[in-house]
Amino acid sequence: MQHDKILILDFGSQVTQLIARRVREAHVYCEVHPCDVSSDWVRAYAADGRLKGIILSGSHASVYEVDDRAPEAVFELGVPVLGICYGMQTMAQQLGGQVEGSPTREFGYAEVRARGHTALLKDIADFHTPQGHGMLKVWMSHGDKVVALPPGFTVMASTDACPIAGMADEARRFYGVQFHPEVTHTVQGRAILERFVLEICGAKPDWIMRDHIEEAVQAIRAQVGDEGVLLGLSGGVDSSVAAALIHRAIGEQLTCVFVDHGLLRLNEGEQVMDMFAGKLHAKVIRVDASDLFLRELAGVTDPEQKRKIIGRLFVDVFKAEAEKLKAARPGSKGVQWLAQGTIYPDVIESGGAKSKKAVTIKSHHNVGGLPEQLGLKLLEPLRDLFKDEVRELGVALGLPHDMVYRHPFPGPGLGVRILGEVKKEYADLLRRADAIFIEELRSTIEPNSGKPWYDLVSQAFAVFLPVKSVGVMGDGRTYDYVVALRAVQTSDFMTADWAELPYSLLKRVSGRIINEVRGINRVTYDISSKPPATIEWE
Ligand code: XMP
Repeated sequence: MQHDKILILDFGSQVTQLIARRVREAHVYCEVHPCDVSSDWVRAYAADGRLKGIILSGSHASVYEVDDRAPEAVFELGVPVLGICYGMQTMAQQLGGQVEGSPTREFGYAEVRARGHTALLKDIADFHTPQGHGMLKVWMSHGDKVVALPPGFTVMASTDACPIAGMADEARRFYGVQFHPEVTHTVQGRAILERFVLEICGAKPDWIMRDHIEEAVQAIRAQVGDEGVLLGLSGGVDSSVAAALIHRAIGEQLTCVFVDHGLLRLNEGEQVMDMFAGKLHAKVIRVDASDLFLRELAGVTDPEQKRKIIGRLFVDVFKAEAEKLKAARPGSKGVQWLAQGTIYPDVIESGGAKSKKAVTIKSHHNVGGLPEQLGLKLLEPLRDLFKDEVRELGVALGLPHDMVYRHPFPGPGLGVRILGEVKKEYADLLRRADAIFIEELRSTIEPNSGKPWYDLVSQAFAVFLPVKSVGVMGDGRTYDYVVALRAVQTSDFMTADWAELPYSLLKRVSGRIINEVRGINRVTYDISSKPPATIEWE
């Protein structure tokens, strides 16, 4: 890879990944590494001449609580450096300034006055005061602050509470901001980060997903040679995009195994087969294991136990297929590689700084350890990409928009959306109710944004409640099951608000489910936020 690169050193802020995403949105390649890398590591990282600048992230901690410092090499390489929040404070302290602890925190919205017409902030403003001062609307979150500038620095920004809210040494191209340009609440944040990476660092904006395909294809070919690759296709975004990319690179050398556990959404299995086997002409083995899964789940009501059973069976079935494929057969060399849809946030989270105390946000991952157990080498073609980039790449590879921009779906599938014991009858009812809900979300446009409601919620689905309630239909009395609808809005799935869907939409969904899905006579809408409720019901 020949791209210019920006190094982001992570001091443990929850929003470090946002810095990387903003830089990537400016089409500049960047990587996040823990702040406790050594100076030698930094010099070696810069040795290929591609490193154009360094960004020091914020931290949840105070410079007095932790001893995390930037490796000295950061300030010796001659590349521009931007310190954000804690990153600015440690820069100040390491270069001879002074930081003072403060009993009060400045948290939230603030208006910052830009000073000194620095290259970083020049002509970037949200409004001007009557005196003509350029003002920025920013988001602050800090207790400590810089109270004395290091030699060579001037004040770049200030607020009443924080007279040194930004500092600059323009000769060395070192900049520090106390506020967070990476969050969207800082209105000009994107412009500031773009200014830094494109103009001050002079990085080339050549990180473009459309062009990345060719590079990724070459890399896969070089890595794999003429060997065989196995990929577990789940229908989710990451495995789908990985499959499409690897197939583009090595065609027939790729075999996908799609384990159908019988707990997928309506027609999902057919859609996956139609796309990959039908349209892309990839080799896909569909293993229909639904009977096995239902048999093993019979009588089991505990959610964690259900998850464990589904996870274990999934691995068993997949391994059995893999073992068959590993063996060379006439006309086939067998499989040597296992491909996984690992993406960059997984890589960053598993390689965090030793000193990092930020609560690591763990998503529910794919099964680990499989490549070792199977004796296969690991191929991870998406490990440099953020989710947004994976989606862009998927579209550029020709995958349908609806598949690539689909809501996340849990690995155990409908197994955790049927409360208590899982039965085929329940799964069949739930699939149809869920499909109606999703169809209406896709077809109902929210007038202000002009977007379908499906795109305005982060996740939406129906949940099957195995209780019966009384209803009337025509002249008769019914005694049928209940479904709950769930739709949430969230940016990180750690907290979530229930979505305020219009009554008219809910009414249509409920009417259709009760009329069209015989066996369900009552529909409820879940109005619990996370926390204290979780997104899934189990
Ligand atoms: P909760 O229910 O914990 O869900 O608020 C947060 C996000 O994680 C998904 N989820 C899972 N994904 N296996 C998965 O692959 C699981 O066991 C699992 N449980 C929850 C959930 O759909 C939501 O997006």
